Amino acid sequence: MPKRTDMKKRIKKYSSLALFAIAALIVMAFVLNRKTHYTKHSRNGVWKVEYGLPEAFTPLDAAAAKPDNKGLLNLSNAELPIEIGDVEVIHRDGKTYLRFPLERGEQIYGLGLNFKKVNQRETIRDLRMDIYHGRDDGRTHAPVPFFVSSRGYGVLINSARKLEVYCGTTQLLDSPEAPEERDRTTDKDWQAHPYSDCMEILVPSEGVDVYFFSGKDAGEVVQRYNLFCGGGTLPARWGLGFWHRVPLPFTDKQVLGEIDEFQKRGFPISVVGLEPGWQSNSYPCTYDWDKNRFPNPKQFLDELSKRGLKANLWMNGYVSKKSSIYGSLRPFFADHTVWCGGVPDYSMPQVRKIFIDAFKKNHLDLGVGGYKLDENDGNDRWLYPDTTVFPSEISGEQFRQTHAVFMARMINDLYSRENKRTYGLVRGANAGVSSYPFAVYSDYTNHADILTALVNSSFIGILWTPEACNARNADEWSKRIQAVAWSPLAMLNAWSSGKKPWSFAEAADSVKAAFDLRARLVPYLYNAFWRYHKEGVPPVRAMVLEKSFTDLLSDGNAKLSEEYRKLAQDVKDQWMFGDDILVAPMLGGQASRKVLLPKGKWFDFYTGKYAGQAEVVNADFAANGSRIPVYVRDGALVPMLASSDKDCRKLVVRHYGNKSGKLSLYDDDGETLEYKDGKFILLPLSVEVSEDGKKEGKVGAGAKKLFNYDSVEFEFMTK
Ligand code: GAL
Repeated sequence: MPKRTDMKKRIKKYSSLALFAIAALIVMAFVLNRKTHYTKHSRNGVWKVEYGLPEAFTPLDAAAAKPDNKGLLNLSNAELPIEIGDVEVIHRDGKTYLRFPLERGEQIYGLGLNFKKVNQRETIRDLRMDIYHGRDDGRTHAPVPFFVSSRGYGVLINSARKLEVYCGTTQLLDSPEAPEERDRTTDKDWQAHPYSDCMEILVPSEGVDVYFFSGKDAGEVVQRYNLFCGGGTLPARWGLGFWHRVPLPFTDKQVLGEIDEFQKRGFPISVVGLEPGWQSNSYPCTYDWDKNRFPNPKQFLDELSKRGLKANLWMNGYVSKKSSIYGSLRPFFADHTVWCGGVPDYSMPQVRKIFIDAFKKNHLDLGVGGYKLDENDGNDRWLYPDTTVFPSEISGEQFRQTHAVFMARMINDLYSRENKRTYGLVRGANAGVSSYPFAVYSDYTNHADILTALVNSSFIGILWTPEACNARNADEWSKRIQAVAWSPLAMLNAWSSGKKPWSFAEAADSVKAAFDLRARLVPYLYNAFWRYHKEGVPPVRAMVLEKSFTDLLSDGNAKLSEEYRKLAQDVKDQWMFGDDILVAPMLGGQASRKVLLPKGKWFDFYTGKYAGQAEVVNADFAANGSRIPVYVRDGALVPMLASSDKDCRKLVVRHYGNKSGKLSLYDDDGETLEYKDGKFILLPLSVEVSEDGKKEGKVGAGAKKLFNYDSVEFEFMTK
């Protein structure tokens, strides 16, 4: 028999073993239950939380963006206005339910690229990569699972799945803010859509990584998101002029003839877009020049270059058997075809390398400036189904959500490796792409809606172009061209309409003025892109990302009219262009419109005349010289080229209003990546207004090192 002391020892030993086992069981139960979550705190205002068992593949993996940590640290150290613990997480049925609290009056922006509204509260979205069908239901070209709250925080659900989002539409049984039950028959206050105090997101996987972004306001949240995604893109400078896409079957001679006609008529363009006809086969694609339409691509591209233009090549991702790279890509195809073409697995580095090698040799080395990456967003009938099997084992669902991201990344790599910059188009996007030089576009042409999409693009780290394809009449044509001139990528897309800028004779002058203006605005816009790159501020911004606008609304300003407050609830038809310009587009048939001017004085862009402050102003198209209303902040400096001539090297710095102002103007070689090694200048420009109203412009040291200008002059717009 063991001794009493031995027994005691044994009991002690076994009980500690038992305790250990119980503890281990608890931990295991926790893990198996997948209810754990783990927060990584960060110094830079971004928190990563792993809920349950996140999936191996995410949109951020597809984009492979590296955070700009230096840039992030330059932002304020604002705290999150919500407790991460207040987000309720449930794991059920192999899925993850996320519930975020919503406050009364809180507005939510983003949640994919939407076309109808800016404030997404009280909406339901099924975020799914797709072409836009005219309804804001979540099926869109950029289903970015990111939202920004007016409280000053943002959230990225880093999932490449189709997500269901109920943004302020649902009611929980035990909610402290549960709306009161009412009787439909007798109570006139009964509501079909009772108040909701939460946003719920259904993620169809056993766990997910969620990123929280803080900010002192919605604007800083967006900056933080963009910097986290690598900082905004700084595209090739030539990409900021006007673009023209020629009709689908055009030959080299027709393209050059068309450009000569542009130049003869004085319409400045910097990029010509070739549509499918440049390839020997399209839908599916060969990516090889067509020998009849483009017998000598090098000579053709040299001719373009002589005229000061770059070529942009259309393509989609589906490979023809006739393509010179079909054989090498064959082992990497998915098990479905699209338009009878093979679907390479663009997530595989081997695939991207085959494209990069061929594109370098056949396009880039000959002088091609970039690509239009089409048909990667899908339309259920024109894409592989979710049942598709890809060699990388990324599911069809996840591949579709990120296909466009992989293609944009591939083209970005192609140019970066050659120390070159590009600017192009892509018809789809997802999270993590802020640093990619592409603007998203659509075949959907409703003018009001594509302008709202422009406003909404500013929340989700993408650029958007409301391209002008066609119009019913001269008035609409002029307004479409004018609006796109104030966007990140100004383009006439005549691939099917065959339209020229002068196609509507009555509008030819105002269209020409818009082309000229765009060419002249390149210095200002390039500077805005520099801020996008360095500070994450989008070059085109929604009004709710503009401080002088949000401050005005939150000031408790008693003088602010009821009308202003009402219109301010969902500003979807005006935007900020760069730091200091406010653009208010107009639609065909619209003779006048209301514009919300933020805090501070605003001046007419064209005349320099005082326009108003903190008020709703009425702008008349005809009285404004057939120009859409554009305003400039008091004291702002707007650097422009003296003329739209492609060889112009004279900078004219416009000054607006009566306040002193200054600006650091960014400039570099415009084409290489050497700015990353410090090869750029920030030219100090200032205008001082003395007490007696005299204005004096000054150029600080560094003027001699200018890359793109020989001389600088000031123009005082406000007399
Ligand atoms: C569409 C695209 C158009 C044009 C056309 C050519 O899908 O959105 O802009 O490129 O393809 O086939």
